[in-house]
Amino acid sequence: MSTTFPPRAGAPGRAGRFTEADCRLDEFTALLETETDLGLYPYADRAVRGVLCYGAAAVDAAADPVAREELSDEIAQALLTGPGIVVFDRAFDDRHGLRASTELFTAMIAAQRATGAGGGDHFAAPGANDRIWNALQKHALRDPASFARYYANDVLALVATAWLGPMYQVTSAINVVNPGGTAQSPHRDYHLGFMAPETAKRFRRHTHLLSPALTLQGAVAQVDMPVSSGPTLYLPYSQRYEPGYLAFNLPEFREYFEANHVQLELHAGDAVFFNPALFHAAGSNRSTGIRRMANLLQISSAFGRAMDAVDRSAILRAVYPELVALAASGDSRGVENLIAASAEGYAFPSNLDRDQPLGGMHGETQAELTRRALDAGLAPAAFAAELAALDERHRP
Ligand SMILES: [Fe+2]
Repeated sequence: MSTTFPPRAGAPGRAGRFTEADCRLDEFTALLETETDLGLYPYADRAVRGVLCYGAAAVDAAADPVAREELSDEIAQALLTGPGIVVFDRAFDDRHGLRASTELFTAMIAAQRATGAGGGDHFAAPGANDRIWNALQKHALRDPASFARYYANDVLALVATAWLGPMYQVTSAINVVNPGGTAQSPHRDYHLGFMAPETAKRFRRHTHLLSPALTLQGAVAQVDMPVSSGPTLYLPYSQRYEPGYLAFNLPEFREYFEANHVQLELHAGDAVFFNPALFHAAGSNRSTGIRRMANLLQISSAFGRAMDAVDRSAILRAVYPELVALAASGDSRGVENLIAASAEGYAFPSNLDRDQPLGGMHGETQAELTRRALDAGLAPAAFAAELAALDERHRP
């Protein structure tokens, strides 16, 4: 009886576990020799060195429900079997308070420095980078109006839903790479990319294939990023390489990455989304004066676990008046997008002694509670009380 599960040509032995011996550079490079055929991606504006770029026409098309579904299918295909990376030109602009958000993040970093808080970064030497961890919650609490404008963004909701389905969980980290900041080593991202190879090896092949479906990586360029400032380096199509979570650590794969990576200049407001299994690395900032600021969005499937611990009740209490105003303006899409970025959309884990379903399969979620409060015109204090009761029903 075969010990390989599930069966496939060239599958690893040992009951479907990858080892370094399965990592073959020739097989990897053969996968990368794919031309990006724009005919397969009719909503894309252009392909640049294999990377699919979407313009305003795609965003406008997303307002139509049928076109939105087609575009979502296209984005999911691009991330799964296509180049693994899409760029949306100017996805964020002054309608989303882009410039004001950059000023806010700059002020937050200055405050962190002044108090000696934050600053630790597991990817860089001390001082080379500035970070705001859990920027989602800090942004919402510091300036709810700015947060609401930013996260009502429809491109973010479109791509997150296309890849992860509904009930996704947004987290954010602001990353500033200062002049002189050096490049990262090529890697894959969370989940299996964030552990030692010896640990990743203990997960069988099906989990290596599953890991990318649990997360979407996004980055919003908060400022213009010419190549000299070191925007991220990528290898399009590398997410398709099955043993890639082990291969990215190997010298011959690192050398190949060094020689063959793609690097795209970005403009302020451009948003990049990529499959977390794509080989990538932040570039070196060789500019003399550009503090390269990106909002790194790590968006989790409802079925995954995010890296950041986020107090979503606190975000909702802060943002609720903004949601009320947005609902009153008639922007129902913006309301949904903002709820999706703020609230817990999934019902579990919960305390099933206390959290009895009133109908259906589960108790009310934070997102459902928020929609109900908006529909009923609940006052902020009453909404906060209901949120606290929901938190209590979820407490072990
Ligand atoms: Fe990364």
